[in-house]
Amino acid sequence: MPDNAPRAIAPRAIAAALLRWYDRNARDLPWRARPGANAPDPYRVWLSEVMLQQTQVASVIPYFGKFTRSWPSVEALAASEDADLMAAWAGLGYYARARNLLACAREVARRGAFPDTEAGLRALPGVGGYTAAAIAAIAFGRRAVVVDANVERVVSRLFAVEEALPGAKARIYALTDSITPDARAGDFAQAMMDLGSGICTARSPKCLLCPLREDCDGFASGAPERFPIKAAKPPKPQRHGTMFWLERGGKVLLVRRPDKGLLGGMRALPTGPWTDSPPGLEGAPAAAEWRVLDETVSHGFTHFNLDVALAAATIAEHAGAAVAGEWWPVADLESAGLPTVFAKAARTFGRVLCAV
Ligand code: ADE
Repeated sequence: MPDNAPRAIAPRAIAAALLRWYDRNARDLPWRARPGANAPDPYRVWLSEVMLQQTQVASVIPYFGKFTRSWPSVEALAASEDADLMAAWAGLGYYARARNLLACAREVARRGAFPDTEAGLRALPGVGGYTAAAIAAIAFGRRAVVVDANVERVVSRLFAVEEALPGAKARIYALTDSITPDARAGDFAQAMMDLGSGICTARSPKCLLCPLREDCDGFASGAPERFPIKAAKPPKPQRHGTMFWLERGGKVLLVRRPDKGLLGGMRALPTGPWTDSPPGLEGAPAAAEWRVLDETVSHGFTHFNLDVALAAATIAEHAGAAVAGEWWPVADLESAGLPTVFAKAARTFGRVLCAV
């Protein structure tokens, strides 16, 4: 059935079937309340939703545990030092989220509580449309239309949406709105997410286990995995850079990246510019006898791929006084909280330099 034809089944029946399924099959996740139970702590919901932006559930779980042990309330998080929070976030990626997390915690602590409406939540730092809707529904039981990538996939299949993403977003939002119930909107949203992650998966959806199979136009079409239809993406540009390992008396030079921009505010190895062609030793943190290693490191960011050359040098213990940055014990580099691309480079430096 095309996506604009009248549906044989009432939207309410879709929500009811999904909630019945969720009551038995909800994933047990550390930030969740049991299906149908009282709403969970807004702090835990907010923290999990920010962590889950662009990041898989399995990667978030250990970070969520670490954060809630270190900072059990929004007030505790608001009182943390920027550097401690950024270091605890290292490895989760999309570091603007960590800066906004702290700004948001401070704003909420100043107000005394989280706002309890979608519009109020939307006004907080780092809380976009999706996150505001998710928190309003999950933590405050508000009816809100929650559309993440999993929901997008489920709804585009349920209604066999032929329009391609990202153009189809408005249509998918409206269709999700049409099936969102007034009651248990938080459970409904999380049920859609669980269905998308466990059953209505991107490849090989398990339609025979799906509680919405009989209502699903994608299933009826015989090829549900065709949805969501996506517009072709242009290939990612390739950029090049050099990372510098400057060692002095068992310590390596680390710098803090500028607050604005990629990996802003994070501790890092010094780098030169990231450009269209290899920049060589441009941007080296000191004049030294740089040795360029044979190995390079590659990393995929959202909007470009990066290839980095690795240059190493050692200076005498009494030298380097004028070099800006922190001298960090090489043996303790794990605790520096380096973002993934720098941690990869540091491991490669460690392996290659140890072998000489
Ligand atoms: N992804 C984003 N929010 C989620 C949640 N509350 N449960 C499971 N997956 C999610």
